[in-house]
Amino acid sequence: MAIIRVRKTGERITGIENVRAFLDRQGVLYERWDTGKLPAHLRGKFNLTDAEKDEILRAFDADIRSLAARRGYVKWDVVALSEATPNLEELLRTFAQVHTHTEDEVRAIVAGSGVFVIKGQGDTGYFDCELEAGDVISVPERTPHFFTLTDERRVVAVRLFIDPSGWVAHPYEDPEFAAAGPTA
Ligand SMILES: [Fe+2]
Repeated sequence: MAIIRVRKTGERITGIENVRAFLDRQGVLYERWDTGKLPAHLRGKFNLTDAEKDEILRAFDADIRSLAARRGYVKWDVVALSEATPNLEELLRTFAQVHTHTEDEVRAIVAGSGVFVIKGQGDTGYFDCELEAGDVISVPERTPHFFTLTDERRVVAVRLFIDPSGWVAHPYEDPEFAAAGPTA
C-alpha cells in the first residue's frame, strides 16, 4: 500500500482511504492491481527478457485496457530496474532531477517498490509517494516530479502512454526543491 510523506511537515499518511483522499486532492490517480496475476515463475525476477515483459503485459491485460479506455492511453510497456541494470547508479542520478511532461506519467508497480517525489498543489510542497507492488499512480501533466527506487533497489512497472513523444522530460528548476534537497 502506498505511503505518503509530506516533506515540509514530515506528516505521514497511511491507509488506503487516507492515501487515496490525499492523492485525489492533488489530482493524482491512485488505484490497486491484483499482483496475484503475476506469473509465479516471474515472481522475484527483476532482470527480464522481452518475452517475459510481454508475458507480464498479457497477465495484466484487463487492468491495462480498463485504464487505457478510461484515460486514453494507446501504448504500454514494462520497465524493470535492479542491481542487474547496467549503470543503475547513473540512471538513478539522472532520474533524481525534478521535471515535467506534457502528458501524465502512469506507473503500475507489479513487483518491487519505488518512490515518486511530486510537487503538491497550493502550499503543500513536495511529497514522497512510496509505492509497492499493486500500486498504480498517475502524475498529472505539467506537475513537477521525479521517480527513484527505495532501499530495495528493484522494481518492475507497467508504463502507459497517450503519445510517447509527449513524455519527454522537461527539466524544472525549482528553488523550493533545491532548498529542501533531493533526499530526506
Ligand atoms: Fe517523469
